Amino acid sequence: MFAAHAIDTSDKPQFYHELAAQMEGLLTGEADAIANAANVSALLFQSMPDLNWAGFYFLRSPDELVVGPFQGKPACVRIAVGRGVCGSAVAERRSIIVEDVTKADNHIFCDPDSRSELVVPLVRAGQIIGVIDLDSPTPGRFDEDDRTGVERLAEIYVAASASF
Ligand code: SME
Repeated sequence: MFAAHAIDTSDKPQFYHELAAQMEGLLTGEADAIANAANVSALLFQSMPDLNWAGFYFLRSPDELVVGPFQGKPACVRIAVGRGVCGSAVAERRSIIVEDVTKADNHIFCDPDSRSELVVPLVRAGQIIGVIDLDSPTPGRFDEDDRTGVERLAEIYVAASASF
C-alpha cells in the first residue's frame, strides 16, 4: 500500500522533487485517468501545506470545464473556457497564479475561504485536457517555485494516465 511520507517544505524545489517521486510511485501501474486524479488530489492535499482545495477540472467539451476528483469543499461543477482563473488558464494556455483572489476580477468563488490560487493546465500532445486547481486560505501562498513544481506534477499525471 502507498504511504505518503512527510516532506520538508522549507526548500520548495526539493519539496517538489520529492513530491514528484512520490507521485510517480503512486501512479505506477495505473492508467485510469479518474482514479489517478483522485489519488493525486489526495496526495497534494495531504502533502502541500496551507491548502483548502486541491483538484482537477477536465475539458469535457471544447468550451467547458467540468469538475473532476478533488479534496476540499464542494465546488462549482462547470466553468466556461475564458471564465474564472481555471477557464482563463485554458484560454490563455498557461499557468496562472492569483496572489489575492479578492482583488482579481476573474476569480470564481467556490470556496469563500480561498485567498490565493494556482491553476496549471494539463497538456496531452499539445492539447489542453484540463487543469489542476489549488486554492489556499493565505494570500500570496503560491510563487514561481510552486508553478514550476506543479507543472512537473501535471506532466507526470498526464504521462501516467490514459485519455478518456
Ligand atoms: N476559483 C476557480 C474556480 C474553482 S474553485 O476554486 C474550486 C476559478 O476562478 O476558476
